Amino acid sequence: MLNRIGRNDLCWCGSQIKYKKCHASFDDKIEFYGEQGHIVPSRNIIKTPDQIAGIRESAKINIAVLDHIADHICAGLTTEEIDQLVYQKTTELGGIPAQLGYHGFPKSVCTSVNEQVCHGIPSETVVLRDGDIINVDASTIYKGYFSDSSRMFCIGDVGKEKEKLVRVTRECIEYGLQQVQPWGFLGDMGQAVHEHALKNGYSVVQEIGGHGIGLDFHEDPWVSFVSKAKTEMLMVPGMIFTIEPMVNMGTDEIIPDKKNGWTIYTSDGKPSAQWEIMVLVTGDGHEILAY
Ligand code: MF3
Ligand code: CO
Repeated sequence: MLNRIGRNDLCWCGSQIKYKKCHASFDDKIEFYGEQGHIVPSRNIIKTPDQIAGIRESAKINIAVLDHIADHICAGLTTEEIDQLVYQKTTELGGIPAQLGYHGFPKSVCTSVNEQVCHGIPSETVVLRDGDIINVDASTIYKGYFSDSSRMFCIGDVGKEKEKLVRVTRECIEYGLQQVQPWGFLGDMGQAVHEHALKNGYSVVQEIGGHGIGLDFHEDPWVSFVSKAKTEMLMVPGMIFTIEPMVNMGTDEIIPDKKNGWTIYTSDGKPSAQWEIMVLVTGDGHEILAY
């Protein structure tokens, strides 16, 4: 339940308008859904216009960083060099890579190649070769605001199968995004993602999901991509979260790297792909903040 403020007090959203004339009926609506047994967002999940403006600026840097990687990535490049490009570009634009030092993560970006599902650690011993698919996952802190997105890159000729995996995973995001609208549910999005992957003979990783983001790197809610329509959290205007399904060519089973403590692999060694966007729920649909 939301913490109510006086109806004649100024609204929590920073509008300088009285609460009763601003977000009071909005809060009532959320409370109503809560009373129906739905999971509803708490106030700190819903961003104010000022916060959204700051988060949008952070996201612009994240987009520019991944554009920069897109311009430079090629066979022969090491993932360590990708890390350097990310660090240089992020800081040049006034940002800080959010991954660097995050729970001890040693680099500025995650680089996950082929059967690596996520959280690959850049290394000078990993040289990109013709036929590799790689996810580059970057995140930025700018003036205290967080952004996070990732893209797949195909190095040279990756063959039909990997190409399809990369394309279908991207389509999964698009189908999921179509379900992002106020007063829908995160499960509507998750089911759409999952169904498209299954339809193509792929599986979706269950244990690792998306997340709220903006004032912190990983905020509530945790976001599943194997969920069911009409379940999970109610989506309301001002919510920001990531859509970042990990789609596997084979089994959805994953195994963590025991030595580095970070990297996740498919248990059958088959390729995995992931794209990540950051999306804002608006009054009439959604806005992609980072990609
Ligand atoms: N974008 C990734 C995620 O949200 C970044 C993980 S950061 C790491 O899971 F440092 F934990 F790798
Ligand atoms: Co993320």
